[in-house]
Amino acid sequence: MEINLANTDIISILNDLDKEKILYLCERAEEMRDLEKDGKRWLLNNTFTGENQKVLAYMFYEPSTRTRFRFDTAMRELGGKRDGFTGTEGTSMTKKETIRDTVKMMEANHFDAIVMRHPKAGALQWAADVADIPVINAGDGKNEHPTQALLDLFTIYINNNKSLDGLRIGLGGDLSHGRTIRSLVFALSHFDDVTIRWAAEDYLGLPEGIHEVAERRGVKIIRERSVEDVINDCEYYYMTRPQFEKMGGEISESEIAGLLKRYRITLEKIRKSKARLMHPLPVNGEVAEIEFPVFFTKNQLFYQQAENGIFLSKALLFEILSDETYRIFRDRLPESLLVGNNRLERAIKNREKESLAIDVIQNGVVLDHLSYGTLDRIRSELALNEYSVFGGEIINDEKKAILKIKEGELSERDYKKIAMISPEPTINIIRENKVKEKFVYLLCENENCITREIMEDVPPKFYNDDGVVRCRYCGQRYNIKSRKVSDEEKEIFVKSLPEKVEKLS
Ligand code: CP
Repeated sequence: MEINLANTDIISILNDLDKEKILYLCERAEEMRDLEKDGKRWLLNNTFTGENQKVLAYMFYEPSTRTRFRFDTAMRELGGKRDGFTGTEGTSMTKKETIRDTVKMMEANHFDAIVMRHPKAGALQWAADVADIPVINAGDGKNEHPTQALLDLFTIYINNNKSLDGLRIGLGGDLSHGRTIRSLVFALSHFDDVTIRWAAEDYLGLPEGIHEVAERRGVKIIRERSVEDVINDCEYYYMTRPQFEKMGGEISESEIAGLLKRYRITLEKIRKSKARLMHPLPVNGEVAEIEFPVFFTKNQLFYQQAENGIFLSKALLFEILSDETYRIFRDRLPESLLVGNNRLERAIKNREKESLAIDVIQNGVVLDHLSYGTLDRIRSELALNEYSVFGGEIINDEKKAILKIKEGELSERDYKKIAMISPEPTINIIRENKVKEKFVYLLCENENCITREIMEDVPPKFYNDDGVVRCRYCGQRYNIKSRKVSDEEKEIFVKSLPEKVEKLS
């Protein structure tokens, strides 16, 4: 099968790549490695110079050492240029410029591709949706870090007779808060007969969301009691640092360090093990989840991983940037970038066709099935006082809130604000005394998801992953909760969703 990655976005290792593409990239990366070993790096020095000149933009909203320098080095060794920012200070993000407009500015500055890292899950899918140039995900919130997973698989590939099937992998450290583990497990799920063993305290354990996806795709996952149980029964042991910056201060750092103590990798723990040790780095110097002498054992692959990342990134840029098309700005905003598919339509009952049950308004919006006790916050958030004609919280003996807005229209931002205060509101649009539209507004529940950032205006979108509803942007599973929605209405909604994350036109 011919593989063409020209102009491809690399956002999710699960959705954008498959076994064939990953193996293809490993072969290309190995060629880059061979050139280096043979002292022939210079052969590719003019790949992206002269009439093939290419320029890479880096947009790092979060700190990075490896990923940013890896792409910088890769592009430099291919002869391309690169420029961008690390940290938002000094850019117009401090003036509340959106991701969408910042991406379009990079295009206007004649960059040919973007490598981006952002603290919000799904921000990279959104950047790819609005960009007309290819976008590479260098990490988005707790969601994915696909190029780290690619370099990890490439490292295993060259140490494992060029095979990624039948692997026995151990995982340790903080499996809950990082994106590296998520992408690694998803990457492994493209291969056959993979067994993952892990050991960690509950707070740092492998999240159910990752477990569920990987098991459904054929990965065997086993939780063990101790690091020794794992490390003595695997070929590769992948350790990770505590991701304090993503824990939101729920537990103190010293408590986390305490939870990790039993799981640190020490010379004693690896004494009987033949496992090759991996880590995405950085190691947390204070916690020292890997004791430093372990870095100087023959088991470790840490620095090899880092260098393999250069070969892999060179291969990736070489493939993605081989497209010569000159791109111009789109002259219109595609509908798909403007609207979500998150409106679960509800049947309009006969009596409501005449007027909505409580009080009558000619034109406006009625918000129904709001959570009890949320009315004042919603009024205040939407600055609605002068328009709202009715608000109540005990309706026909039922504890729920309802809000009628006379002659008013609500924007997409308003709906989002309402759904963030009171999930799954029923929205009734009233025109000339009749209910014209009635729908439940669904919003991803992941607090870290980009769709919940009001100023970014990302339209909430879901897809149907074999019957499971998932957020297009952060991948989190969505369970429809509203008791008012019938099974039939739910089924119609789920069937209406796209079956996978596809490029928006
Ligand atoms: N492994 C990794 O992503 O490192 P950086 O955060 O330094 O890029």
